[in-house]
Amino acid sequence: MNIFYHENTKTFHLTNGQISYLMKVLPNGCLGQLYFGRALHDRENFDHLLETKHRPMTSYVFEGNKLFSLEHCKQEYPVYGSTDFRHPAIELLQPNGSRLTDFTYDSHTISFGKPALKGLPAIYCESDEEAQTLTICLRDRLLEVCLYLHYTIFADYPALARSVYIENRGSQDLHLTTAMSLSLDLPDSQYEFVHFSGAWSRERYTKIRTLEQGIQSVESTRGHSSHNHNPFIMLRRQGTDEQAGEALGFSLIYSGNFLAQVEVDTWDTSRVLLGINPFGFDWKLSPGESFQTPEAVMVYSCQGMGSLSRAFHKLYRTRLARGMWRDQPRPILLNNWEATYFDFTEDKLVSIAQAAKQDGVELFVLDDGWFGARSNDKAGLGDWVANPKRLPGGITRLAQRIEELGIKFGLWFEPEMVNKDSDLYRSHPDWILKTPNRSSSHGRNQYVLDFSRPEVVDAVYAMMSKILSEAKVSYIKWDMNRSITECYSTALSPDRQGEVFHRYILGVYDLYSRLNAKFPHVLFESCASGGGRFDPGMLCYAPQAWVSDDSDAVERLKIQYGTSFCYPISSMGAHVSAVPNHQINRTTPLSTRANVACFGAFGYELDLNQLTLEEREQVREQIKFVKQYRLVLQYGDFYRLKSPFEGTVTAWMSVSPDKRTALVGWYKTLNQVNGPYQRIKLQGLNPKLSYCIDGNISCFGDELMYSGLITTDSSAGEQQPGEKAACDFDSHIFVLQALS
Ligand code: DGJ
Repeated sequence: MNIFYHENTKTFHLTNGQISYLMKVLPNGCLGQLYFGRALHDRENFDHLLETKHRPMTSYVFEGNKLFSLEHCKQEYPVYGSTDFRHPAIELLQPNGSRLTDFTYDSHTISFGKPALKGLPAIYCESDEEAQTLTICLRDRLLEVCLYLHYTIFADYPALARSVYIENRGSQDLHLTTAMSLSLDLPDSQYEFVHFSGAWSRERYTKIRTLEQGIQSVESTRGHSSHNHNPFIMLRRQGTDEQAGEALGFSLIYSGNFLAQVEVDTWDTSRVLLGINPFGFDWKLSPGESFQTPEAVMVYSCQGMGSLSRAFHKLYRTRLARGMWRDQPRPILLNNWEATYFDFTEDKLVSIAQAAKQDGVELFVLDDGWFGARSNDKAGLGDWVANPKRLPGGITRLAQRIEELGIKFGLWFEPEMVNKDSDLYRSHPDWILKTPNRSSSHGRNQYVLDFSRPEVVDAVYAMMSKILSEAKVSYIKWDMNRSITECYSTALSPDRQGEVFHRYILGVYDLYSRLNAKFPHVLFESCASGGGRFDPGMLCYAPQAWVSDDSDAVERLKIQYGTSFCYPISSMGAHVSAVPNHQINRTTPLSTRANVACFGAFGYELDLNQLTLEEREQVREQIKFVKQYRLVLQYGDFYRLKSPFEGTVTAWMSVSPDKRTALVGWYKTLNQVNGPYQRIKLQGLNPKLSYCIDGNISCFGDELMYSGLITTDSSAGEQQPGEKAACDFDSHIFVLQALS
């Protein structure tokens, strides 16, 4: 890993043997972008990559020169209004009404390791040898504003982390209306734009469109990263698949409003912008003030999307997620939500936990409904004290009773919200986000607390901290069940209202980090009506997240498959729930529900007392299986084999780091009559090792990868005596174990 600076050509080269990233100071002092891709030899001069042609309808920077126009330069952190007409990375509104800026090279530093970002989630290093950071200072000499562009390259990843720190050293009040975390100008547009979009209960479906001249983007304007879009996009060459071809991944470590945009210009170059959504954003930067953008991560792969995903998985699993739970097998939990909803008593909860313990569950989670006057979703949010009618001994006694069963206790909170029917709202009606003289919309009968105000965050912290200090709580599910409307903070001046969305999310991060610090043993799982905030920002504080409220096994195939493009398997909360499924009314076999959920942070979302003895026995076997293999399932290298978006068979697999154990999940959503012979080509195995499959036949890794694992079932031809009957929603987990 190295960061080179060539003084003569003013060229920067960040490389680590896997990738290269090249920039240079342009003739006008701005910073140009030369290359991002597979590693290149270093040399002093890459100027040939700057193509400058005279073209009609172009404006030029220097008088008498008809070659140098920013419109034709690939740039690092572009501005609008001079000779470039594309969307900019930064815009600063000045007191005279102008938004024009001119940021030119001032200085740079190169250091080992990676600095933390104050108040924001970011990748970290465990030692300075893991990474090097280049900081380039650009300066607008008229306004005296400095931009510090941070680039971290890692020894072991084909990845770059980028962020920008903006400092007003001048004497005027400025308004930052755009401040992207990442801008990248690519020399062509021969890419497919892949994004992960959907809605509540069908989050992160894979969507693919060919790049076209103009703008294509995904974004959130909802105050959370959202179910609708995710702050992760890919650009891939046509024909790129899981194992071959070029793909670039762009991910934003942020949980609020974001924009991920690609602009293709007239000459088929592509500009990628990723950062806080400029829509509605306006940050006042008074003299002496500064602004830190969230961090963005770019990963390059020339070996297909699978290797791109595995780079994100490992980086996010080991250098974004942190704390005691980062590398630990995740406890098998049982959550009471779909088992009881709001209808429970202390004894009922204990009886559910008892059954769970009998079958091997390790953690019982009490979901919504335990606090304040919460007997339905109309009251109680904001009052984080146990409801004595339901829990006469409070959380402390319930937690103790659960612990006495020999199982850990976890608790649900929705810290950012309040119902009007709550003591908190009655004492602080001004603590919600609300536009003066306008009506306030509700979502699920609740209102959003103004987390841009430190005193609000302090009050919620005090309530949560009290419960966590008094009761033995080992896990927290942090929910967030509505988007933000009428976003306005009465605590901020009118000229700072464009800051509220971002300040809100900073408040959320602040509460998370204070709780993480005070209760380091607690495992946090984030949630937002299912997967409405499944983003890298949350992963920094909560190493796992509830993937979706849709717990149906067939639906989950698509949701977990799409989520796996960026996020590690250990981060995906996935549970077995009752049938008919509560969201889609579908009945799937218990085995298939577990076979899908075990590729995730595994658990149950039902009352085991309601199952038959035979089903209970199955549950015990499932739990035994997950305990035996969860390290491979959750922390192994993950390979997508067959997409649920392309047919009725889905397959994926996890392989242990030493490649001696592999688990292949195979799922068939619709059965066939007299169907074809079937096989799946596996990936990631050692070609020279012989693997025993399900304790029966053995095959070498090369056979399994190049010829394939036979998955033909009794739907091909006639069912033979003793053969398992193939059916709809069928599935199997093949266990591959290397021999000797
Ligand atoms: C939405 C979550 O996604 C569910 O799992 C559950 O916790 C409910 N909220 C509780 O209100």
